[in-house]
Amino acid sequence: MKDCVTIFDTTLRDGEQSPGASMNPAEKLRLARQLEKLGVDALEAGFPAASPGDFEAVGLIAKKARNVQVTALARASKKDVDIAWEALRQAAYPRIHTFIATSDIHLEHKLKMTRDQVLEAAVNAVRAAKAYTDNVEFSAEDGSRSDRDFLCRVFGAVIQAGATTVNLPDTVGYALPDEFAQLVSYILEHTPNIHQAVLSIHCHDDLGLATANTMAALKAGARQAEVTINGIGERAGNTSLEEVVMGLYTRKDNMGLTTRINTEEIYPTSRLVSMVTGIVVQPNKAVVGANAFAHEAGIHQDGVLKNRMTYEIMEPQTVGIARNRLVLGKHSGRHAFKQKLAEFGYDLQEKELNQLFEKFKELADKRKEILDEDIEVLVAEEILRVPDVYQLDYLNVVSGTVAVPTATVKLKIRGVETQSAGFGVGPIDATFNTIAKMTGSRSQLLRFSVNSISGGMDAQGEVTVRLEENGLVALGKGADPDIITASAKAYLNGLNRLEYMKRNPSLAPEERTP
Ligand code: KIV
Ligand code: ZN
Repeated sequence: MKDCVTIFDTTLRDGEQSPGASMNPAEKLRLARQLEKLGVDALEAGFPAASPGDFEAVGLIAKKARNVQVTALARASKKDVDIAWEALRQAAYPRIHTFIATSDIHLEHKLKMTRDQVLEAAVNAVRAAKAYTDNVEFSAEDGSRSDRDFLCRVFGAVIQAGATTVNLPDTVGYALPDEFAQLVSYILEHTPNIHQAVLSIHCHDDLGLATANTMAALKAGARQAEVTINGIGERAGNTSLEEVVMGLYTRKDNMGLTTRINTEEIYPTSRLVSMVTGIVVQPNKAVVGANAFAHEAGIHQDGVLKNRMTYEIMEPQTVGIARNRLVLGKHSGRHAFKQKLAEFGYDLQEKELNQLFEKFKELADKRKEILDEDIEVLVAEEILRVPDVYQLDYLNVVSGTVAVPTATVKLKIRGVETQSAGFGVGPIDATFNTIAKMTGSRSQLLRFSVNSISGGMDAQGEVTVRLEENGLVALGKGADPDIITASAKAYLNGLNRLEYMKRNPSLAPEERTP
């Protein structure tokens, strides 16, 4: 049995189904480029039949990503498969991923189909996909709660129809590691021709067991893991890429398996996903959390100073967290700045570099030192985040113990400049009220939080907001040394995401795939 695990990343499809995490096609393309650099074998770019936005994003990624299998999701219907192919056709290595539920609960209540009908639909969808490409994946939705023998029958039939990967999802995150591993062994023993396909697993984290189930299944013989960066995804999320990859890397002695992942790109990818989606990584998150390599207890610090292996099982550098950060300041030149960006892996066009350097100089005028995190945020703010409807041009706020908090805001709305002023109970309230008036937004602010990016009194503030409008929820993120400006940026980013969701109704929760 092969000892290299195929890493199938679904951040752009299942991950995007995290509440509020919708991304526009240009943002998805940025992430796809980073995933390619990370070395994932396959990336699921979206579900083209679900919305024009998804169709466009898959098409864009298929055209640009040259070193990764680009996958599109399709329900088990000829129409979905045709649309998936239409979006994928320019890909260097296209893969069609078709799925249908196999559990009796789904058959009876959702699909209202018999087992034989499901089997026929699965086979027909795989045949339709096979007419376009050799690289076809079939998923048995809710596989972990399906009848084992029926599951093996379906897998056997789709392999005979040409599926090259068969995927066992634990759609509702119900499985336990030992029983999931037994199910994998059962499938490997009882599915006709299983060795003509790769057996994959796809876990959700409802019981906090997604990584444990994935590792147990790999040990039992599965050879593709479906994962997302930072574990983002529907409900409690999906299996996180960084945990599985570092689990296999750190415990090769036990697992005996490898991946083709360039582990030093893990942390930059995690930051990028958090920046683009607005989903903050919890500080104690394994591998990529802010505290994952921080030793607080004196006894631990003492041990690590004597020999890091006393309390550290991985080196931060292995996952791309730099220990010795190169600090830039206001006297740093364009060359040093360019070099720094190259170190992060950003290969920017001249125009983007000039735009960024100007912002860097503005920031350097306000702060003594510019750290790696600040530069990352600058890139995300200026280059990665594509302003789509609303853009901040100018903000002036008056506030204090006696003044009535007042904000004057200049925006570009679909490229047209407009200016207004308004009041509030505090400076942020005044800013948000003014922006809401100018954009006509009826959204509610559900959450507002501020974090300091790099520590110190002059650190940049990173603001996250969560907005709700007519059942749609969007996250927004913004950073600036001035937290009122950071708040305005975050609010506008959230409003832009809401606009995008309104134009892509399939992103509404009830329409989403599992
Ligand atoms: O969780 C799930 O079942 C899925 C499938 C479409 C693979 O996301
Ligand atoms: Zn899923």
